[in-house]
Amino acid sequence: MLSREDNDLLTRVDAGTPLGELFRRYWIPALLSEEIAEPDCPPVRVRLLGEDLVAFRASDGKIGLLGEHCAHRGTSLFFGRNEECGLRCIYHGWKFDTDGNVLDTPAEPAGSQLKNKVKHTAYPCREAGGIVFTYMGPRETMPLLPNYPWLGVPAAQRYIAKSYLECNYLQGLEGDCDSAHLNFLHKMFKPDARREFLHLTDRAPDFEFDELDCGVRAAAMRTLADGASYARISHFIMPFIGAVPVGSMVDNRLDGFKAVYQVPSDSVNTWRYDFFFKWSRPFSQTDSSKRDFVDAGYKKLRNKRNNYLQDRQLQKSVNFSGITEFLNQDACATESMGAVVDRGKEHVGASDAFILQVRRFLLRAVKDVQAGKPAPGAIFVAEHNDMSHLRFEAAQLPANVSWRSLYEKP
Ligand code: FES
Ligand SMILES: [Fe+2]
Repeated sequence: MLSREDNDLLTRVDAGTPLGELFRRYWIPALLSEEIAEPDCPPVRVRLLGEDLVAFRASDGKIGLLGEHCAHRGTSLFFGRNEECGLRCIYHGWKFDTDGNVLDTPAEPAGSQLKNKVKHTAYPCREAGGIVFTYMGPRETMPLLPNYPWLGVPAAQRYIAKSYLECNYLQGLEGDCDSAHLNFLHKMFKPDARREFLHLTDRAPDFEFDELDCGVRAAAMRTLADGASYARISHFIMPFIGAVPVGSMVDNRLDGFKAVYQVPSDSVNTWRYDFFFKWSRPFSQTDSSKRDFVDAGYKKLRNKRNNYLQDRQLQKSVNFSGITEFLNQDACATESMGAVVDRGKEHVGASDAFILQVRRFLLRAVKDVQAGKPAPGAIFVAEHNDMSHLRFEAAQLPANVSWRSLYEKP
């Protein structure tokens, strides 16, 4: 349960709000590289942290992320001409480079200095792992782009499912930090025999946590029939990443992981990026068919307006939810709470321990940054940019072995 004040603090992301300012201290996904695949391709609208922006890839390959509305008189630069290393407004031809400089004001008299007096909103961008990241905060606190394990993996062994969630980011993030719902929301009555479904053996796991600089590591511990334990280790990573183990066991190692970014488009809508990775082999077309659940604009085909096409017959015989595809199941669970759930009305229990840890971490981070302290986990020195401790494991352990042994350095 959260007070109204804390709920507001943890859900409002516009510029000037405490959480909005915290999130602006990190590199966050703006869009997929494939959305602006070629130099001089059409610009793309991007709404991020409540700001309307336009992304484009200039002739020289540089990526620009500019305020959507032209600095002259406000026409949308989405309709602009992306040509000759800049984006030109179609109303009077003002042209902007990727840094927000005004290169040309062709309707002004020769010798006009107007273009030198104007600087347009422009956020720096970096590409890694198929994602364009941006930094929307003050230049003096700009950290390095973290070397997350999922950003350096071979392209064929990863894929990213992007989708639009019609609710506040925290509802999505809390779903990623909620191991207990796997046994219900995503339950299949006849599980896929190729996969490990040990988490089905005990529906009420115990939780243990380790706090990290950049977030929280959580072990969901379940007791197996033979007395051994089964640990599933997930992470919350600042500012809004949930990373969990997924896949089948290959050579006694779980074959992959999933890192999910719940990026606030604004305070009531979210861009969700599910980043999947396999150690053993490239993804096949079938593996990545999950992308078919959205339209060309990454909006879900099954959504709250059609009740996710829930099938009551399916719910009797095939799965717990009656909804196909786990991303649709998650969306139903989180969007149906309403745009911003009132956490003053909830009744949390032992199974919610991880989300309570996440809220505590975020509240403290908000207050720290308000008090002038650094954003937790932000890295400024290249030698510290080692993220190899972020591993998302699932393992069976003998009764006397701690899950923490999985994180001891060899
Ligand atoms: S409004 Fe963009 S050039 Fe005039
Ligand atoms: Fe889920």
